[in-house]
Amino acid sequence: MQDRGSWSSRFGFVMAAVGSAVGLGNIWRFPYYTGTHGGAAFVFVYLLAVIILGIPLLITEIAVGRASNKNPVGAFKTLAPNSRWYLVGILGVVTGIVILSYYSVIAGWVFGYIFITLSNKFSGADEQIISYIFQTVSGSPIIPLILLLIIIGFTTYIVSKGIQSGIERYTKVLMPVLFFLLIILAIRSLTLPNAIRGIEFYLSPDLSKIDAKVIAAALGQAFFSLSLGMGAILTYGSYLAKRENIFGCSAWIAFSDTLVAIVAGFVIFPAVFSVEGLSPADGPALIFKVLPIVISKMPGGLIFGTALFVLLTIAAVTSTISLLEVGTSFLIDEYNIERKRAAYILGGISFILGIFSALSCGAVGFLSKLPFLGIDFLSLMDVIFGNISLIFGSLCIALFAGYKWKVDNIIAEIESENVNFKFRMLYKVLIKYIVPLLILLVFVNFIVETFLKL
Ligand code: TRP
Repeated sequence: MQDRGSWSSRFGFVMAAVGSAVGLGNIWRFPYYTGTHGGAAFVFVYLLAVIILGIPLLITEIAVGRASNKNPVGAFKTLAPNSRWYLVGILGVVTGIVILSYYSVIAGWVFGYIFITLSNKFSGADEQIISYIFQTVSGSPIIPLILLLIIIGFTTYIVSKGIQSGIERYTKVLMPVLFFLLIILAIRSLTLPNAIRGIEFYLSPDLSKIDAKVIAAALGQAFFSLSLGMGAILTYGSYLAKRENIFGCSAWIAFSDTLVAIVAGFVIFPAVFSVEGLSPADGPALIFKVLPIVISKMPGGLIFGTALFVLLTIAAVTSTISLLEVGTSFLIDEYNIERKRAAYILGGISFILGIFSALSCGAVGFLSKLPFLGIDFLSLMDVIFGNISLIFGSLCIALFAGYKWKVDNIIAEIESENVNFKFRMLYKVLIKYIVPLLILLVFVNFIVETFLKL
């Protein structure tokens, strides 16, 4: 058996988990979801979702991972032998590879935008030129593939290096840099003309805008952003020492991830409202089409823009690492495949799968508008694996904790080595009743709406 590896410190674990959580989800998806779901009202529901569902689920995933010392499949096999719960782990491994495949496509565009910004292409560019640049980067048959290869290649390299000398070593440096850059960007954005209108949109909630759709979106976004529902946090938890406080770590992860998302909003919304005629509801293109317009019109745009895309690339890669680590640990634990080999096999599969997403944003007509569905391949993958599968996976993990492995075992795991868990009762009620019930409601609603839309 190979040594599975472990984190060298609590700080190392929290930074790696925060690295997983903080990603395109915070800086690209959160502002665009906020923009398309009514602004501050969405933010309000999102915050509730993080506290009520996010923190209990983080605790649960970490405890299950640490108690079993395994990847998601091995964890369920160890804690519930002779049952089919391991299928939840399999779903997690598959989900990780698929999310990695399309997430890396977007990460690739972001990486490409560093060089476009640096070469001063945005200065003085109008909307048409900016649209044209976006179409070239996302819609050419070659550029997205090269960018995809770079992102997946780099991710695979880091994962192949292992826990301490790979993942931990990089995230420990990259995450603090990211925080620092983000604060600078927010200050810059908040001092743009009309910034106050963006802040109003972002912070004064119109509670009448909260409906089933907003709640479902907020929940799905919370799971995606906290990396929940597919065993990524579970896997990272399996490398955590028994003396560490799981509740404390979970609170830190949730707090940091939410802080980055909120601050990202302070970067994006004031910037959007500072240019006449731009809309926060522009959807997934918000960053790629709207921000360059802002960059082109503001003083210091070259530096602001370059820093922004460097920041996004860093955030994305610390997340892709966690997506790949889940399947890699699965191959290592269950099939005793050497880490390096495991990482390269899965990185390769993910790249091949990613080709379809990379070519689905204009390059290949058939993939860009799938027959019957009418959406592109990348969006289809995001709906199935980045939403439905995560919500379903989270439901399964909550049910597993509440009714199969039992809450008392989780609490015993949290309290190993004399750690005191103050919120024991609250956790029990949440994970057994509130969390599954809320997810179930949202899940049914989400499925119904998705199929009504198709
Ligand atoms: N949380 C990351 C983000 O916000 C994406 C991510 C990484 C993820 N690992 C995950 C999402 C596992 C779901 C599951 O960008």
